[in-house]
Amino acid sequence: MIEKEIILKYNQPGPRYTSYPPANYFDNTYGVQDFEENIVESNIMGPSHLSLYFHVPYCPRLCHFCGCNTSLLKSKDRIADYFSALRKEIDKVASLIDTSRLITQIHWGGGTPNSVPLQFIEGVMEQVKARFRFHPDAEIAMECSPAYLTFDDIDLLADMGFNRMSLGIQDFNEEVLLAVNRKPSRYPVEELIRELRSAGFSGINLDLIYGLPLQTPANFALTVRKAIDAKPDRLVTFSYAHVPWVNKNQVILEKKGLPSPEDKLDMFLIARRMLVQDGYAPIGLDHYAREDDELTVALRNRHLHRNFQGYCTKDRTGQVYAFGSSSISQLFNSYAQNIKTPDMYIDVIQQKGFATERGYRLSFKELVTREVINEVMCNGYVDFSQIAKHFAIRKTEVLDYVKFDPGKFTLFIDDGLIEILPEGLKVNRLGMMVVRNIAMNLDPLAAGKSEKKFSKTI
Ligand SMILES: C[S@@+](CC[C@H](N)C(=O)[O-])C[C@H]1O[C@@H](n2cnc3c(N)ncnc32)[C@H](O)[C@@H]1O
Ligand code: SF4
Repeated sequence: MIEKEIILKYNQPGPRYTSYPPANYFDNTYGVQDFEENIVESNIMGPSHLSLYFHVPYCPRLCHFCGCNTSLLKSKDRIADYFSALRKEIDKVASLIDTSRLITQIHWGGGTPNSVPLQFIEGVMEQVKARFRFHPDAEIAMECSPAYLTFDDIDLLADMGFNRMSLGIQDFNEEVLLAVNRKPSRYPVEELIRELRSAGFSGINLDLIYGLPLQTPANFALTVRKAIDAKPDRLVTFSYAHVPWVNKNQVILEKKGLPSPEDKLDMFLIARRMLVQDGYAPIGLDHYAREDDELTVALRNRHLHRNFQGYCTKDRTGQVYAFGSSSISQLFNSYAQNIKTPDMYIDVIQQKGFATERGYRLSFKELVTREVINEVMCNGYVDFSQIAKHFAIRKTEVLDYVKFDPGKFTLFIDDGLIEILPEGLKVNRLGMMVVRNIAMNLDPLAAGKSEKKFSKTI
């Protein structure tokens, strides 16, 4: 199988380019004052829309595979303290934002936002509605664990304005879930989806993970089948990222026995084939969307974009103002990350109103490079003249900033993964499977960093 050969050949650790530069470049020379300055600067820069992200760093139970910024919820009192800090932070940040701009995206993630009493979420949503104006087509989304989701919750969330939901399924096989300490869905997923649709949710996504203990290509195919039969609009098959040096809980999974790299690759390929056969279009490496989904249309028009909250279109994205512990704001020329520990975040917000711990301010060259990397990663295409025009510089300067050297791409060209065009570079469908390895050759920072910091693609 040609796809398998390509992945085996290029499956090297490398950045996922969820941001450029990747988050391991952020440092603590960036602080609150920088963030405040950057918010004010962002008011007159593009994108002109606003995207808000709210992080809820708690889960009632911790899955051993989890790589998210979350912690075990030990006391209900902490939730009230956390939300009081979150509301204070919103007030502080909102006072610096030009709120004549429209919100096009709100995303709640975690942790498990739907595991806290929903009146806390409602309080924040009321505060946001009072302080900001919404685009009529705003996307309001929450990542939910179906273990804690009821039909009443769905109706309540719809009343608050939510119109998209991502359900963390991971696997339908309860033995797999037991092995990773995850509580199964409270209700059958097809019933939840039916309720979501009748409550007016227009976008439903399912998350799956492959590479967990007890998973095999055969039983993972059953999970994928069940996921497709539930007819979500989008689906993600995450490769289990095993980074025990970051998350010590993951060592438990080593003892249970992880699938071999060959089996893991087969799970990825089987899922991909099944999804494509059923009419889902691949978005990037491991995301899939229905043919009529706005992401699929945006990919066709080379208008796809990505921020820390996932894929979106270039029209929909705003500058991202993020609230809560560990959350990362993405402004036009900077990233600002909050303190990671929820207890410390609460204390610092109560004292100072801001909790920026580290970040990164991009140089002009890095802004240009980010644009090139984003185009390649999202749309598999870059036109250097267009980028030059956008930044009002010469094409030769763009080529110089990304250290463009056609010689670096010989292997990819010989394997039919990319084409060098007069105006730039085009990644073919097969090449999108190893797109981050391609993008690394346009990243002047990639050469200097230890590869050990990243997990493999698959
Ligand atoms: C914040 S969780 C989603 C909401 C909720 N907490 C849940 O688990 O259903 C975000 C997603 O990250 C993915 N994820 C978590 N840890 C991962 C890991 N180590 N490797 C790959 N994907 C992971 C899971 O698919 C999960 O659904
Ligand atoms: S995967 Fe979701 S539910 Fe499980 S620990 Fe991570 S954030 Fe919590």
